[in-house]
Amino acid sequence: MSSHTWPSWLPLRADLAELSAYGAPQVPSLAQLNTNENPYAPSAELVDAITARISVVAKTLNRYPDRDAMELRSALAKFLNNISGTSLGLNQIWAANGSNEIIQSLFLACGSRAALGFTPSYSMHPLIARVTATQWHAGSRNLDFTIDVDGALAQIAQIQPGLTFVTTPNNPTGTSISLQDLDLLAHACAKVSGLLVVDEAYAEFSNDPSAVTLLDNHPNIVVIRTMSKAFAFAGVRLGYLAAREELVDAMLLVRLPYHLSTLTQAAAIAALEFQAQSLATVQVLRQSRDSLALKLEDLGCSVIPSSANFLLFSVENPQSVWRSLLDQGVLIRDVGLSGYLRVSIGNEAENEQFISALRQSLGGK
Ligand SMILES: Cc1ncc(COP(=O)(O)O)c(C=O)c1O
Repeated sequence: MSSHTWPSWLPLRADLAELSAYGAPQVPSLAQLNTNENPYAPSAELVDAITARISVVAKTLNRYPDRDAMELRSALAKFLNNISGTSLGLNQIWAANGSNEIIQSLFLACGSRAALGFTPSYSMHPLIARVTATQWHAGSRNLDFTIDVDGALAQIAQIQPGLTFVTTPNNPTGTSISLQDLDLLAHACAKVSGLLVVDEAYAEFSNDPSAVTLLDNHPNIVVIRTMSKAFAFAGVRLGYLAAREELVDAMLLVRLPYHLSTLTQAAAIAALEFQAQSLATVQVLRQSRDSLALKLEDLGCSVIPSSANFLLFSVENPQSVWRSLLDQGVLIRDVGLSGYLRVSIGNEAENEQFISALRQSLGGK
């Protein structure tokens, strides 16, 4: 609910009046572990490559960007094909300012019927549904936060959603769903003429194959990815999707003209050229994740098995532990889940700061 009282002169849509703006705290801290960013800054070589590309395109900034981002979409298709053994063409890729814009475009194009997701999951799915006036249904998960596939199949049949969202690895739990189960869900969505939207924002941190490998058999699957996490490129705002060509054509109907700036396109192309280097941090973060999980268990917390770059762990009094960590300069995330907090994996120093601050908060155990 919003704490805002809107003035009568502002003709705000009535269905938005009670909403609060998205706002993970952005406060200065020693260890910033609350938005699942990659803690490793771009290498000097990548910075040079971005600067070189940008100094070339800067001379053309009087002109609008390539509206269809052809070079960038080809590079993204090549990246996905390399990691997944697929043969996606650029017409099966769409790119936007972060995967949040991709999600918004999906709602704008295909959100006339209800949408379904499995809670707890990424909070922006229901929020963007609300902003685009799509009815949202919150399905539940098993107690261990995995998806109850039979329950999900029943809900799809009953609600008949136009859009069903599955995040894997899931935020904020870190849990994954198998391709076999996605296959079952996609069939169920197809029976009600709905799309299965697989949000793979954290896929590079997991060993599971991407759902892009299911696209040949399932025209109704849409896979969403981002360069904000594994690629360590959150500041650029580059998200993309892979789907059948017709779905990409539908994105063209709702995108704003020239939505993706020339500078964004140039930076993202440079990062894709340096992908081996950017993604090298993924292995480091996975190892840090696994060792941080053990340290949390040593402190008596139970940790949900995670395939992402964050951990959900149990604490008795999440709000006061969150506050006490912040007082010690460590910013993590209270995702509003009773008995749990989420921490993003940081660099070594940040992880140390987090563990020692948590030890302090839990009474020096
Ligand atoms: C599951 C999931 N999807 C999408 C996003 C949006 O990422 P971006 O808009 O930076 O691409 C996030 C960001 O935290 C996320 O956790």
